[in-house]
Amino acid sequence: MSDYILGIESSCDDTSAAVLCNTLVLSNVIANQQVHEKYGGVVPELASRAHQQNIIPVINTAIHEANINKNNLSAIAFTRGPGLLGSLLVGSSFAKALSLTLNIPLIEVDHMEAHILAHFLQDGENKKVPAFPFLCLTVSGGHTQIVKVTNYFEMEIIGKTIDDAAGEAFDKAAKIMSLPYPGGPMIDRFAKEGNPTAFQFSEPRIPALDYSFSGLKTSILYFLRDQLKLDELFIEKNKFDLCASIQATIVSILMKKLILASEQTGIKSIAIAGGVSANSGLRKAIQDAGIKYEWEIFIPKISYSTDNAAMIAVAGYFKFKLGKFANQNQVPYARQSSR
Ligand code: KG4
Ligand code: ZN
Repeated sequence: MSDYILGIESSCDDTSAAVLCNTLVLSNVIANQQVHEKYGGVVPELASRAHQQNIIPVINTAIHEANINKNNLSAIAFTRGPGLLGSLLVGSSFAKALSLTLNIPLIEVDHMEAHILAHFLQDGENKKVPAFPFLCLTVSGGHTQIVKVTNYFEMEIIGKTIDDAAGEAFDKAAKIMSLPYPGGPMIDRFAKEGNPTAFQFSEPRIPALDYSFSGLKTSILYFLRDQLKLDELFIEKNKFDLCASIQATIVSILMKKLILASEQTGIKSIAIAGGVSANSGLRKAIQDAGIKYEWEIFIPKISYSTDNAAMIAVAGYFKFKLGKFANQNQVPYARQSSR
């Protein structure tokens, strides 16, 4: 049985649409919004407007690249939250209208659950998927969570950040260094040229499996402020070592709690997901830990780590199989806790 699912993702600053045949990716189109670059961060009003401009061409391209007709679609899945409300409204309103027009089921998807379910996408390589239960370190621009995944929609957050997310830590550190937005990929790039032990930044002492990243931001800020007093070119002269050291600290913080979570739960099937899982330092650390602790590790392709609609469509596919449909009067939510 072939089910064709259209996924629509518009939670932040990427407009994306994807078509799957069951879990197989037929297309995954992403329009990035360049408009935010000059502001050093996402401007919500501009994001909604750009989604409105992008959504029809992006969906048309996804359907065209999948080599199907919109009448072949079995269901439409969209991101209901968490994210920017104005951005979510564009994707969800479009999804609702299209489901009414085509008279096919509408499926709402949680963005963070979808990041995890991206591990079940297939794109032609017959990839091994994680068996339940597994742990997923889910790290994005707004969230940092250790999730115990018992089934497609049975997910328990066993650890989370009490302040900033890991992606925010990357982006804020980059901003302090006057690097362009988004800072995470830039720090990753510069880190490859630097020495990760050149500078030491303190790691938080937070109980249990929770995280904290706001102290790291402050310690980077004060350290650089002091160094710049002595040498105003300090950042420029040391940018590779600074990026390598900052990245190593963030990765070390993430890994310590993940190792603890594996020890406490006895689960050795470990995945990473979300935009920060594109980070080369984190990917390497998971591989090393996999060898050291005999974990079976799951690392998504870069294109399924950062925001994409294929992950929304695969979550939609599993809900479609369970008959979990949304109704027209469900509204987007900005925070996962308010869904
Ligand atoms: O999941 P995502 O694409 O969007 C959200 O749901 O937030 O994650 C975006 C975050 C941003 O903070 C971005 O800087 C970070 O992921 N990111 C990275 C890398 N690629 C994206 N952080 C570190 N290294 C990367 N290569
Ligand atoms: Zn995301």
